[in-house]
Amino acid sequence: MFARFRRKRLNPVLRDLLQETHLSVNDFIYPLFVKSGEGIKKEVASMPDVFQMSIDEVIKECAVLKELGIYSIILFGIPDVKDSVGSDAMCEHGIIASAIRAIKEAHPDMFVVTDLCFCEYTDHGHCGVLDPVLETVDNDITLKNLASQAVVHVKAGADMIAPSGMMDGMITSIRNGLDMVGFSHIPIMSYSTKFSSAYYGPFRDVAESSPSFGDRRSYQMNPANRKEAILESLEDEKEGADILMVKPALAYLDIVRDIKENSSLPLAVYNVSGEYSMLKIAGDAGVIDYEKVMMETMIGFKRAGADIIISYHAKEVARILRGD
Ligand code: PBG
Ligand code: ZN
Repeated sequence: MFARFRRKRLNPVLRDLLQETHLSVNDFIYPLFVKSGEGIKKEVASMPDVFQMSIDEVIKECAVLKELGIYSIILFGIPDVKDSVGSDAMCEHGIIASAIRAIKEAHPDMFVVTDLCFCEYTDHGHCGVLDPVLETVDNDITLKNLASQAVVHVKAGADMIAPSGMMDGMITSIRNGLDMVGFSHIPIMSYSTKFSSAYYGPFRDVAESSPSFGDRRSYQMNPANRKEAILESLEDEKEGADILMVKPALAYLDIVRDIKENSSLPLAVYNVSGEYSMLKIAGDAGVIDYEKVMMETMIGFKRAGADIIISYHAKEVARILRGD
């Protein structure tokens, strides 16, 4: 009976030699949620083991991450005060700018990425300034604000900017804004293909960013569209994005593959809050072998074509990879 490799009698060394896809702690970016105050570490009900933290706690957390070999984080801010434009996000004393400065001071070797959007900062919870007539986001005014927000983050010490609001032309605007003030070396990781997804539900709890009316369908993508998903990412590549992204990850692995095959840029996936909570809570309930299902999911992202995985599971992955 012909068989190229007899799996039933495969030497374990050969099995490793033949393994096509590998996970490494270097593949991961870990999300952190920052709030003002001191000594605050508040678990999110819908996301076990995920916390809102004050800056001092975030600094402690970075030490834990580094010990695990994780040197990149993506920051989300929860401001004290929200308003119609999301001013806190553009203020050098706002929650994110303050957090970046403190983190870079304590951990200069930490690679700090910032999520660039307004939904956590606006009182209406949408991703930009509202057009009063249309009751949806005013794309072009939001573009200017995104550029100012990016400059504030980079001045505070951010190493990479990750715009997540799906505004048309956001990469051009942010790139120009950064270049004009001498930050042409700062890369942009675009949330280039971001679907309008119910998988973001638990995130909106932790980031306190649910829209107060309507939804994000006028700027986020229809989950049913594949060609448009590829076009959206290619558009951002043309505008100068350095890294593309597909979000969410799990239900969109076909899109990950498609974009990988259509662009030579590095590709990230965002393994979002709802995906995390499904596994975590099923594991806690004893329904699945959490660690195995989680690692199988991670290798699936890599196999589909992801180069970078943004995941709330990152710390657990690091522990499993080093055999703890
Ligand atoms: C902000 C943003 C969201 C997420 C990342 N950045 C929420 C949204 O678009 O509603 C979701 C992340 C997650 O669910 O883990 N625009
Ligand atoms: Zn947003």
